Amino acid sequence: MTSPTTSGKDRVVIFDTTLRDGEQCPGATMTHEEKLEVAEMLDAMGVDIIEAGFPIASVGDFEAVAEIAKQTRNAVIAGLARAIPADIARAGEAVRHAKRGRIHTFVSTSPIHLAHQMRKSEEDVLDIITATVTQARNLVDDVEWSAMDSTRTPIEYLCRCVEAAIKAGATTINLPDTVGYAVPEEYRRMFKTIRERVPNADKAVFSVHCHDDLGLAVANSLAGVEGGARQIECTINGIGERAGNAALEEVVMAIKTRGDVMPYWCNVESTSLTRASKVVSAATSFPVQYNKAIVGRNAFAHESGIHQDGVLKNAQTYEIMTPESVGVKQTSLVMGKHSGRHAFQHKLKELGYELADNQLQDAFVRFKALADRKKDIYDEDIEALVDQELAQTHD
Ligand code: KIV
Ligand code: ZN
Repeated sequence: MTSPTTSGKDRVVIFDTTLRDGEQCPGATMTHEEKLEVAEMLDAMGVDIIEAGFPIASVGDFEAVAEIAKQTRNAVIAGLARAIPADIARAGEAVRHAKRGRIHTFVSTSPIHLAHQMRKSEEDVLDIITATVTQARNLVDDVEWSAMDSTRTPIEYLCRCVEAAIKAGATTINLPDTVGYAVPEEYRRMFKTIRERVPNADKAVFSVHCHDDLGLAVANSLAGVEGGARQIECTINGIGERAGNAALEEVVMAIKTRGDVMPYWCNVESTSLTRASKVVSAATSFPVQYNKAIVGRNAFAHESGIHQDGVLKNAQTYEIMTPESVGVKQTSLVMGKHSGRHAFQHKLKELGYELADNQLQDAFVRFKALADRKKDIYDEDIEALVDQELAQTHD
């Protein structure tokens, strides 16, 4: 049975890689305790799969993955491994105590990576895929295989690689846009073609993993889902290698807000998104840009007179989702030089003032003059200005 909110919609599973790809972002290293805290929070908010780290990378990473595997109640815990037997064995050991553990192994498939990074032939890589996925499947039932740089890989060869991975037992096939090069229609088509051409493609869940080099990571992720993918890999605040990964909060709210044109649902509790953003920002010491979609401090703030007037009459005039739906208490009307009389009056009411018409008019003129001189207008500025006005009109 499907619940009323999900009926008729396909489930998309959310794979969070804040602790792996996110931590690979220069300067975003987290301590052991911070990683445990982030993992606990991701599990509590309904993330389906948590990629907890890269166990072979360091003893610290191994211990963090192993500890998260032990403590996590619901989510699948994934450990990353290159297509190297020692990596796979270490990842298997790290997720061994998870209720549900996954080994995520990857290898490059594009000509540029094969020639310059791996120095291997296409046939060599096919053999590597078969051997490493088989090894991983002997350790756990849940194996994800990723074709690194898939979006710069000729489709015929990519089909052969995916076929080999499925044949060897991969349960999830991830086709990452490793360098953030794809555009949405192209990425959608790649999934559609692969799923049509590869034998037994329906035996695996297909996954998107998009980087934001061209600012298209979220758009590409949603396009990949349109092409048949049912897992989205993403990070809180979009942190990750270079320009980052698709932002989890944007993916979740796009699915939730535009269910009318995208018939999908996911399990993440959206009211936890703002807190999650703050926890990850504090753990990584990475500030969240003010205008960041969903979780930026301006995401539900309005300054212009026209917008403030509209929002005061009906919030939906300029808000496509409620602040409460992402865990923000309320919309904020920021007082500045673009603010109009309606918002000013609203602010005065909030501060407990009732002014006669002429006083209001004078106070508004003073407020505009102040806003022209001063960048940030605080409640105290407005109080001082109104008190001055009241003192003068009482004299
Ligand atoms: O971007 C990428 O290709 C990756 C893989 C390891 C999945 O992060
Ligand atoms: Zn990545």
